[in-house]
Amino acid sequence: MKKDIGNSPALYPAPLVVVGTMVKGKPNYVLAGHVGIIGHDRIMVSLAKQHYSNRGIKETRAMTVNIVDEGMLKKADRAGCVSGNKVDKSDMFVFHTRGTGAPVIDEAPVVMDCIVDDVYETEGFESFICKIDGVYAEESVLNEAGKIDYHALKPVLFEMPTYEYLRTGDVIGKCMNVSE
Ligand SMILES: Cc1cc2nc3c(=O)[nH]c(=O)nc-3n(C[C@H](O)[C@H](O)[C@H](O)COP(=O)(O)O)c2cc1C
Repeated sequence: MKKDIGNSPALYPAPLVVVGTMVKGKPNYVLAGHVGIIGHDRIMVSLAKQHYSNRGIKETRAMTVNIVDEGMLKKADRAGCVSGNKVDKSDMFVFHTRGTGAPVIDEAPVVMDCIVDDVYETEGFESFICKIDGVYAEESVLNEAGKIDYHALKPVLFEMPTYEYLRTGDVIGKCMNVSE
């Protein structure tokens, strides 16, 4: 018999991202685990209303979603510990801009440059529905077909109840080939 453990999301582990946006003309970064996929061309990022980043996202209607790998985890963790409301995080990462003007982090292996389509408000949170304008990936994480190779990328996963960072694991099967 299953035990009732409340009503918090139980979708972890989840891939971790650094969301980059321009606030008052300078980049700001926030670490986020509450990210979801919508259809084939949109994603959703859920951020607490008081975050400094939200200001820039709403002003510019643009953000980047930078996949965190182990190489950038220390800096990403810091982006999740200090707020732009108190600390200038603009020089935390080397960046450049592409289509939307939001900061594309140079050391992130894969970056989605996004246009904010809509904002879904719930108590204390703004969830940004984003249309993907472009995806930029380091060649080192691409396979011969030019697609992302997740064995090379190794995205960091995040687990909420314990607040731990995890590695991805082994391949356990090919999709649509494991049914009996
Ligand atoms: C592992 C981790 C994951 C986080 N995920 C989220 C998230 O999904 N949504 C959110 O609103 N805050 C999240 N945070 C908290 C923000 O990253 C943190 O409060 C940050 O300092 C806000 O930055 P800003 O005020 O400069 O935007 C997370 C923090 C950590 C350490």
